Amino acid sequence: MIINKQSAEAGTIDAAFAGGVLFRRDTQAIFWNNHQTAVQRMLDYDTLIGRDLPSVAAIVSATGSSRFGKFFFGSSEILIPIYKSSAEAVAEHTGADVLLNFASFRRAYRITDEALGIPGIRTIMITAEGIPERHARALKLRAGELGKLIIGPATVGAITPGAFKIANTGGTIENIIASKLHRAGSCGLVTRSGGLFNELAHTIALNADGISEGVAIGGDRFAASGFVEHLLRMQANPAVKYLLMLGEVGGSEEYRVIEAVRDGRLSKPVIGWCIGTIASHFSTGVQFGHAGASANDDAEMANTKNEAMRAAGIHVPRSFNDLPEIINGVHSELHAEGIIGDITEPVVTSLPEDCQTALDSGRVRKRTHFTCTISDDRGEEATYAGYPISAVATPDTGFGICDVITLLWFKRRYPKWATDFLETVIKTVADHGPAVSGAHNARVTARAGKDIISALVTGLLTIGPRFGGAIDGAARYFKLGADQNMAADEFIDHMSERGVLIPGIGHRIKSKKNPDLRVEGLKHYAETHFPATPLLDYALQVERRTTRKKDNLILNVDGVVGVLMVDMWHGLGYAEEEIDRFIDSGTLNAFFVLGRSIGFIGHILDEKRLGMPMYRHPFNDILYDVPLKRDEP
Ligand code: ACO
Ligand code: LMR
Repeated sequence: MIINKQSAEAGTIDAAFAGGVLFRRDTQAIFWNNHQTAVQRMLDYDTLIGRDLPSVAAIVSATGSSRFGKFFFGSSEILIPIYKSSAEAVAEHTGADVLLNFASFRRAYRITDEALGIPGIRTIMITAEGIPERHARALKLRAGELGKLIIGPATVGAITPGAFKIANTGGTIENIIASKLHRAGSCGLVTRSGGLFNELAHTIALNADGISEGVAIGGDRFAASGFVEHLLRMQANPAVKYLLMLGEVGGSEEYRVIEAVRDGRLSKPVIGWCIGTIASHFSTGVQFGHAGASANDDAEMANTKNEAMRAAGIHVPRSFNDLPEIINGVHSELHAEGIIGDITEPVVTSLPEDCQTALDSGRVRKRTHFTCTISDDRGEEATYAGYPISAVATPDTGFGICDVITLLWFKRRYPKWATDFLETVIKTVADHGPAVSGAHNARVTARAGKDIISALVTGLLTIGPRFGGAIDGAARYFKLGADQNMAADEFIDHMSERGVLIPGIGHRIKSKKNPDLRVEGLKHYAETHFPATPLLDYALQVERRTTRKKDNLILNVDGVVGVLMVDMWHGLGYAEEEIDRFIDSGTLNAFFVLGRSIGFIGHILDEKRLGMPMYRHPFNDILYDVPLKRDEP
């Protein structure tokens, strides 16, 4: 809607704001930037005032990858769609006519300018500080021409109590209730600062009946909509019965208000005060918190402006401390005249408390779904069984990889003879060439073009009772034989009667004549460093019998690791039940998995490096014994 040039320059209210109403109970906004806390605050306000429609229709996040944000609306969770641009968001949410521009000052101008060109948007609020003044002026001019309103830059926003609130305006829910911002009062409030906006809303709630609408125009020297534009709009809004402007030192905005009072455009009672009166006590100009809060000449001094307002018939207190009294006086007079009626205080909907907040405060308790007894990542630094990572990670800590393994797998640090044994196991089983089941699978998978994880997993999946995964079984059965005092022959018969091959016995290529030197190395380490090796001794008795039957039925690498793990745990003082639990849960095979992953990854990387083509097994290496098709009788 185009308005005439004169009114565009003056920022006069467009017909879109007929009745002076800024926001209604069904107003919806597009929130530019995924500021989850601010969005949640708006939705919590909606709950407080009993809105059915969320005040945020959509979020714009140019860089984020999420397509929806999860928020609470009352006690339910809702999804708010996230778009890449304002245009996309408005196209999908035609009812949303407010754009809350929370972009940084570098992008805020471009985004506002773009939003001005989107027909559905009629109000834009800019939160960024430090937008160049020429940009703010250009935005104001364009908004005026288009009959749109820009609040800001450098503002916390605005509120129509009981209808719609921008982001953090009014502060916390507790503050909002204390300041009666959850329901409409009768004062129209304009300030520059958001902090003082909250302060005054509270003062008005204590000394009158609260506010009907409030706007913080922003602290930059040039506001895209000034005091007078908002006060004139509020003049047109029948719900606003009197006006309060909190100006400040610097700028000449307040004189435009004085002019409007003098020429009768503002006929509702106006209360005014300019903060920064202290500046006149300094010999040089003082810059207050806002960019615009500094007087360039005498007319911009707060005292001068207060005097001028008083002379124009605006209610101006003697000092800021007297403001409550003035508010109370104006409100009481209008009430006595019947212009302001009584307000029945609404029942305040209590906001559901956030589960985490209630938990943190100890007001509620909740059952957990998981238990973790090995590591804790909640503090400043994650810990392994109580040790911060930094206390175990670097060489100077004296912790090696097997100390970390025992902390995370067994929740204690083992003595050096035991961690050295575990390290020997891992190094010993790390690889056994490309021909073994797992390495072959990993290589074939890598050559099929699969990624490193898939290829590794195919290798790992071959680990089982025949290949590498016989360690737990070896520990279980040899321990059973030894615990039950079975003689070696008796044990072999026992296993054979049950049709179970003894796990840990036998090897495809290793034998008595071609001994497995890995087995010899582990045996030697244990004989030298372990306090005792009773289960190894028992397994060797069994091996003496099995190798009599066949030369390759040796105690293999799985077998020696299995029995030595049990001997290690006995040496460390573990109870039998604890050792049985380790065996039952597959702990011993885990050492093969861990060690052999090193080798599998090596094979996969080797294939990738070599760039070998997809593997196809040769026909001549397969015995085809497929029945011929028979003619049906
Ligand atoms: N316990 C008892 N008897 C066995 C065992 C055993 N573990 N292994 C083989 N035999 C028997 C066979 O039943 C067969 O008997 P038979 O002649 O009366 O029929 C005979 O010994 C010969 O067996 P082979 O055919 O030579 O053994 P093979 O080479 O096929 O198997 C294998 C090797 C798979 C390792 C086998 O010995 C076995 O299954 N062992 C148990 C599982 C195990 O320890 N696997 C880990 C190996 S090491 C590693 O993967 C890192
Ligand atoms: C291994 O460590 O992979 C082996 O002992 C198995 C094998 O077949 O060599």
